[in-house]
Amino acid sequence: MSRFRSVIAGVGSYLPEKILTNADLAEMVDTTDEWIKKRTGIKKRHIAAEGETTSMLATHAAKRALEAAGMEAGELDLIVLATATPDLTFPATATMVQREIGMYRGFAFDINAVCSGFLYALSVADSFVARGQARNAMVIGAETFSRILDWSDRTTCVLFGDGAGAVVLRGEPGAPGMAERGIVHTHLRSDGRYQDLLYVDGGPSTTKTVGHLRMDGHKVFRHAITNISGAIARVLVDSGLNESDIDWFVPHQANERILEGISKKLGLPKKKVISTVAEHGNTSAASIPLALDVAVKDGRIKQGDLVLFEALGGGFTWGAALVRM
Ligand code: ACO
Repeated sequence: MSRFRSVIAGVGSYLPEKILTNADLAEMVDTTDEWIKKRTGIKKRHIAAEGETTSMLATHAAKRALEAAGMEAGELDLIVLATATPDLTFPATATMVQREIGMYRGFAFDINAVCSGFLYALSVADSFVARGQARNAMVIGAETFSRILDWSDRTTCVLFGDGAGAVVLRGEPGAPGMAERGIVHTHLRSDGRYQDLLYVDGGPSTTKTVGHLRMDGHKVFRHAITNISGAIARVLVDSGLNESDIDWFVPHQANERILEGISKKLGLPKKKVISTVAEHGNTSAASIPLALDVAVKDGRIKQGDLVLFEALGGGFTWGAALVRM
């Protein structure tokens, strides 16, 4: 069977226009700009306007990724969209994006791995490309977490924001290798025993409502550092690399203190870690492609660089991916 590598041919992202600062939040709940910045590093987040949905944010990001790749929607065979905040219970948000960008071929579907969603979507799309079932694929992370936050709960509402990011994968003949461009390796994990630490207390099959995000932040914090460090170590061992071989780390942008904790545990130099959390808070599945887009556009991440993505989210789900850009 022929084998293909998935090369990241283009990156795009989108943040809604409306900005909610820490000072704005201090007028809504008992918090301060100082507390939020010290505990999380977050300065502001973007919030979708009334009527602005996850599929709309995703469509903007997808169009920008296509433009960056120099491709047309009609050249795509597949869209995998990661979200925990779909427009509707069904159909999949991915099919709405398919319609909006004018892709009238192939197939599109959603996956839900919450904050690890982009890694899961990337890995799934890579499998279709590797087997030749899709030549070109779009991978999107898009969220409107503002719609599932309890805006009276200061322990959670200060952490999250809305946004979308996307990458175009182009299939190139040949197996993945360390020297060629493409997705080199992915490692995914989940453990359903930790549901109660981070979840949404509603859904179609239980409450018949959308529900609100609930979290034990302290415990999530500890698991995030341990599990993500483990996934990174596993990808490095599997690939025969060590930390110093990696040019850039593009983590899930949850919280500056989690990024610092992981860097410290693994001895990663801070200058190699892309951090954009201050500007948009935790955008769940959208955060890795959002951060990647910033670092590609500002010229830090260049073609040929070895980049490591990592994330942890509700479930728990977690993982890491190694990509030669
Ligand atoms: N403003 C002011 N005070 C607050 C706020 C707030 N927004 N939120 C909590 N507090 C108070 C608490 O009530 C507590 O007060 P008390 O001592 O009188 O009881 C005090 O601040 C300390 O609370 P802790 O929860 O112990 O604070 P901590 O240092 O753990 O920081 C935080 C909380 C930021 C949520 C931290 O636990 C964290 O970052 N957890 C990770 C959560 C996360 O990022 N989840 C995202 C999803 S998972 C992922 O993406 C990896």
